[in-house]
Amino acid sequence: MSVYQATTSAPVNIACIKYWGKRNESLILPTNSSLSVTLSQDNLRSTTTARADPSFAADCLWLNGKVDPIKAGGRLHTCISEMKRLRAAFEAANPTQPKIASFNVHICSFNNFPTAAGLASSASGFAALVYALAKLYALPQTPEELSLIARRGSGSACRSLFGGFVAWDMGSDDATGLDSIARQVAPESHWPEMEALICVVNDAKKGTSSTSGMQRTVVTSALLQHRIGSVVPSRMADIESAIADKRFGDFAEITMRDSNQFHAVALDTYPPIFYMNDVSRAIIAIITEYNRLSEQPKAAYTYDAGPNAVIYALTPNVREIAQLILYYFPQAEKVVIGGQEVQAALPEGFNEAVAKRWEVGSVKGLIHTRVGDGPRVLSNSEALLNAQGIPKTLA
Ligand code: DP6
Repeated sequence: MSVYQATTSAPVNIACIKYWGKRNESLILPTNSSLSVTLSQDNLRSTTTARADPSFAADCLWLNGKVDPIKAGGRLHTCISEMKRLRAAFEAANPTQPKIASFNVHICSFNNFPTAAGLASSASGFAALVYALAKLYALPQTPEELSLIARRGSGSACRSLFGGFVAWDMGSDDATGLDSIARQVAPESHWPEMEALICVVNDAKKGTSSTSGMQRTVVTSALLQHRIGSVVPSRMADIESAIADKRFGDFAEITMRDSNQFHAVALDTYPPIFYMNDVSRAIIAIITEYNRLSEQPKAAYTYDAGPNAVIYALTPNVREIAQLILYYFPQAEKVVIGGQEVQAALPEGFNEAVAKRWEVGSVKGLIHTRVGDGPRVLSNSEALLNAQGIPKTLA
């Protein structure tokens, strides 16, 4: 008996121009275009195994070892049925292909980073799911075409179908959404010196989800209208050109301004939404002082819908920035970059008074990573399902 199965992994992406707001909730069409950097799967990734078999009684998905219900009409359901539809069309066009579109599927997905770290996993998760089904079904669709389906799982997931620097063009076809698509602006090889330091910030409270937060913003924020009409279009063009010419200073300024404006729009939402906390704001003050010391910014902070900071920087400056973060946010465990332990230190001329020195655990971890590639196909030995199609961790 044939086994129809594929295992893939997909990366996390962190936006420099933020997606915030939908003009169509069911198709997930955004109110503005966005642009992100794909982070290396060597550090952060979602891995997914998908299998189709006539003996499976129902479609079933396990996420990090627990069943995740596939609700009719929900996002998971939409992605899985869209992929089955593509397979059915492929079988109709290629009659010699095995008829597997009608089989139920078992999908097992695992994130190698703790959800408790507050790192968004929906982008890598939906990208890995769509990619695994595309490989299982041997589909001819391009990553662009697959991005249309990942978008229906979670908007930002469409950008995780590519490595490097990725735009999501908002499109204008509101009936089909077929032009609301991800596009690679530059591959990871274009600017391999681009690195990221993620400061995992301690956060006790459960924040407002992106989905409901942006809904409230669209309905209540006047500032959002200014952002999507007058700010984002030129910023998208400017950051694409800064990436093309590898002008880090311009890239950094646009990235920081856009993070600031996204959080201003969250504050302008009624009732207001606060994603950053005092630690997040201290990191902004520290990076701002660090950038004052050089003619051009050497570090760029950005924050998503939570308090964690992602700091983009080029290879020669990463150690100095990590030393600076350690000075203000001492770590319980030693931090190693490039095989060498990082010691807390301030650069020459740095005004120490921009922030206080925090207690151990205020930043509960530092993740050092770089720009990375798009989804990968993994070997069968890395499959998450056993011979019976049950997660190996449960069997
Ligand atoms: C702040 O993609 O998680 O990270 O489409 O409702 O699933 P849904 O939202 P989601 O929103 C991401 C928001 C953001 C900015 C970004 O990634 O562009």
